[in-house]
Amino acid sequence: MRFLIVSGPTREPIDPVRYLSNYSTGTMGRYLVEAAKARRHQVDWVECPQTVETARDLLRELKRRLPKNDVLIMAAAVCDARPVAVSSQKIKKEKLSTLRLIKNPDILQELSKSKKKGQVFIGFALESGNLLKNGYEKLRRKMLGLIVVQKVVKNNTPFGDKLIDAFLVDVCGCVEPLKKISKKKLARLLIQRAEVLARGVSPRC
Ligand code: C5P
Repeated sequence: MRFLIVSGPTREPIDPVRYLSNYSTGTMGRYLVEAAKARRHQVDWVECPQTVETARDLLRELKRRLPKNDVLIMAAAVCDARPVAVSSQKIKKEKLSTLRLIKNPDILQELSKSKKKGQVFIGFALESGNLLKNGYEKLRRKMLGLIVVQKVVKNNTPFGDKLIDAFLVDVCGCVEPLKKISKKKLARLLIQRAEVLARGVSPRC
């Protein structure tokens, strides 16, 4: 099967020396690539910000790559907003008191409009509250087959190579809790689940 795996943080430039981003390290994505290759799948890897930097460029790139793939695993931490204007010159620090932002497109939601029958999308969600309700709502809105929901609070973030507590939520709303699972193990599990979903097997709830 052909897997399109998207990982890492996007960046939104402010001026030639500064950008907005987030704490994502891309670890989950690297394990997903490893796990998919170990199962002899073809892997198309888009690693942010190296392959593509901004959310809008990422959307363009994924629209181009998606038709050739069976599964999209969207583990990228996309910047939700970008500066309204990017300065071509370094902004003097005295003028850096306010930054006006504009919302970025929701990439998965945009891609879901051209999703082919049989294609499988898997996404991730970090939530501070109402984990399962918000996660399931995202799964529906973005037309995902499966979503990995993780809790994020101050002093307990899932960034980097560590054990995490996660919930897998499927289209029926069934929830599978995964306690203290390594990202390597979670990656293997997600590749197996993607294989099952791509075969058109409905979840057993
Ligand atoms: O940010 P949010 O919680 O909505 O992210 C859930 C999923 O949607 C993730 O898989 C993320 O990669 C994706 N996403 C996206 N476009 C955005 C924001 C998030 O595709 N602008």
